[in-house]
Amino acid sequence: MAILEAKGITAGYGGGDILKEVNVYVDDGEIVCLIGPNGAGKSTVMKTIFGLLTPRLGSIEFLGENIAGMNPDLIVKKGISYVPQTENVFPTLTVLENLEMGAFTRKDNYRKRVEQVLDLFPDLKKYLGKRAGSLSGGQRQMIAMGRALMLDTKVLMLDEPSAGLSPLLVDMIFEKVQDVNKSGVSILMVEQNAKAALAFSDRGYVLATGQNHFEDKASSILANEEIGKLYLGG
Ligand SMILES: Nc1ncnc2c1ncn2[C@@H]1O[C@H](COP(=O)(O)OP(=O)(O)O)[C@@H](O)[C@H]1O
Ligand SMILES: [Mg+2]
Repeated sequence: MAILEAKGITAGYGGGDILKEVNVYVDDGEIVCLIGPNGAGKSTVMKTIFGLLTPRLGSIEFLGENIAGMNPDLIVKKGISYVPQTENVFPTLTVLENLEMGAFTRKDNYRKRVEQVLDLFPDLKKYLGKRAGSLSGGQRQMIAMGRALMLDTKVLMLDEPSAGLSPLLVDMIFEKVQDVNKSGVSILMVEQNAKAALAFSDRGYVLATGQNHFEDKASSILANEEIGKLYLGG
């Protein structure tokens, strides 16, 4: 069953439509990967789902409710979190303070949640008192993901979580994405490391020029020669 479904979303930044009737859904428990060339609109899909842009047409259903046009602060409370590609930590705050920032709307005692999040990212335990800006790219990505999980997140959207990381750290972050998924969080992810990301995804979408171009099970996309040549580097 779809937990999140964007249907026919048409959206842009004021100067015309960037997305043209885009359809994307995430079933409960899935990892779904968006791929496609630079400028295709992948990040715009996430920003629209997260309420940073209001679609001109279409609907965005989350757990059966239309959330199109809702403010991000409400959307995050409902259970959708978003980690943008850049500037996704507060560099002058410590690791612990970054995690606490993700919990500022929680009314209960969030300490238990901090512990649960640190169980997913045990490496961060050593750095809790360090400023996020002093840590490596891989560590900052873990902080950003951890912060996004501080509420009762049901769908986590990750925009190019492996961008700028060395091959070893790419593998580490992809392991973390799978760990988060196994903890019960559905994932919608944009990735340029498309082959590696599709290898652990359930389904994938190819977006081009703001439109759905292709969609299938991830394994079928990986086996598709034409898509491989065009979008997966041969
Ligand atoms: N803040 C913005 N204002 C105006 N246009 C933007 C903005 N952000 C992105 N765009 C444009 O929207 C299109 C899609 O961008 P984006 O969603 O970032 O693509 P992708 O993530 O697939 O690389 C591009 O043509 C880009 O120039
Ligand atoms: Mg992008």
